[in-house]
Amino acid sequence: MINFPLPRLDRDDKLRNYLLKFCRLKNGEVWQDPKRKHKVGCFNAEDSVSIKNLMGRNKAALAVHDPPYNMVAFQKTKAEDFARWCSSWIKNTEEILSEDSSLYVWLGADQKNHLEPFAEFILMMRNTGFNSRSFITMRNQRGYGTQMNWMSIRQELLYYTKGKPVFNIESVYTDIPKVLKGYYKEIKGIKTENLERSKSVNIRAGNVWIDVQQVFHLLIENVNGCFAQKPLKAIERIINVSSCPNDRVVDFFAHAGTTLIACERLKRKCLTVDIDPIYCEIAIRRLENLRESGNTGWQNSNPFAEEILESRSIKNYLKKNYNIIYKRNY
Ligand SMILES: C[S@@+](CC[C@H](N)C(=O)[O-])C[C@H]1O[C@@H](n2cnc3c(N)ncnc32)[C@H](O)[C@@H]1O
Repeated sequence: MINFPLPRLDRDDKLRNYLLKFCRLKNGEVWQDPKRKHKVGCFNAEDSVSIKNLMGRNKAALAVHDPPYNMVAFQKTKAEDFARWCSSWIKNTEEILSEDSSLYVWLGADQKNHLEPFAEFILMMRNTGFNSRSFITMRNQRGYGTQMNWMSIRQELLYYTKGKPVFNIESVYTDIPKVLKGYYKEIKGIKTENLERSKSVNIRAGNVWIDVQQVFHLLIENVNGCFAQKPLKAIERIINVSSCPNDRVVDFFAHAGTTLIACERLKRKCLTVDIDPIYCEIAIRRLENLRESGNTGWQNSNPFAEEILESRSIKNYLKKNYNIIYKRNY
C-alpha cells in the first residue's frame, strides 16, 4: 500500500521552500481552468482589487468561507482584531455576491477562552448587509478536551443571506432513514402520519449535522500536508442547497480546494483564493487529479509525492526530521 505522508506544511519553512519550486502561481497571479473555467487566485482575501478582477463582471450566488480561526488555532490574534480582519473580507464578499445570495462561514469557538472569536464575529456581522439565517453545528468525530470538561466536538457553521436566495429543500436530506412514527396531523380532513406527509424517507440534516465523517488519512478525499480540510460531503450539501448548476461559487480560503472539488462535481463554477502559493497549487492539483483518476484526494499519499520521490534532498530532509521514508513500491 502506498504510504507517502506529508507533515503540516504551514509549520515547516524549510519544507515549504522545497515545495514552493513546484508551485505554478506566485503571489498576485491567477490560474484559469481551461476546461470548466474555474479560477484559483493567489492573493490576500482582503485585497478588494484582486477579488474584483478575479470575478470580472459577473457576481456569485454563494460564498463558502473557512478562515483560519484567530489566524491558525486560537489566541494567536486578539478576538477583536480577528473580527476586524474578517470585516474586510466580508465587505469584499458582499460586493461580489448577487442581490439574492448566500454566505456560509466556518468558525471556531474556544471553550477555554470565552468562546472566542465566535461572539466577536457574529456581532461584527450585525453591521453588514447580511441577514443571519442559521447557526449549524457539525459533529466532529475527534475533539479536544480533558476528563474534567465536555469534549469539544462541535464545528460551527454560520449561514447568512442577502435578498431571497435559493434554498433547494430537496437537498437537505441525510442518508439516515426515518424510523420515528407518529406526529399525526389532519390534512384536508384526513389524518396523516409523519412519513405520509414527508418529502423523503430520510431525515433532514437540520442545523445539527451528525452524518458527516471528519477527514482522516484512510479516506480517499484526504490531502496530506493540509491541516484544516473540510469534509466534501458538508461542502456539497451547502452547494446543493444554496446554489444551482452553473452558478458561481466563491471561497476565499481554498487550502485543500474542497469547494473547488465540490463545484467540479456539482457543475458549478468555482472562484477561489488562497494567500499561500502552496495551497493554491494543492487545490489545482486536486482538481487535475480528480479529472485524471476520479479520486477526490490522495488518501495516504499527497499532491507532491512524485517530485519528492525524485528529490534526494527532500527525501533526506523528511527522513531526518520526521522519520518518513519515501520509496517506490515496485
Ligand atoms: C482553514 S483553511 C481552509 C480549509 C478549506 N475549507 C478546506 O477544506 O481545505 C484556511 C486557509 O486560508 C488561507 N489564508 C490565511 N489567510 C489568508 C488570507 N488573508 N487570504 C487568503 N487566504 C488566507 C490559509 O493559507 C489556509 O490555506
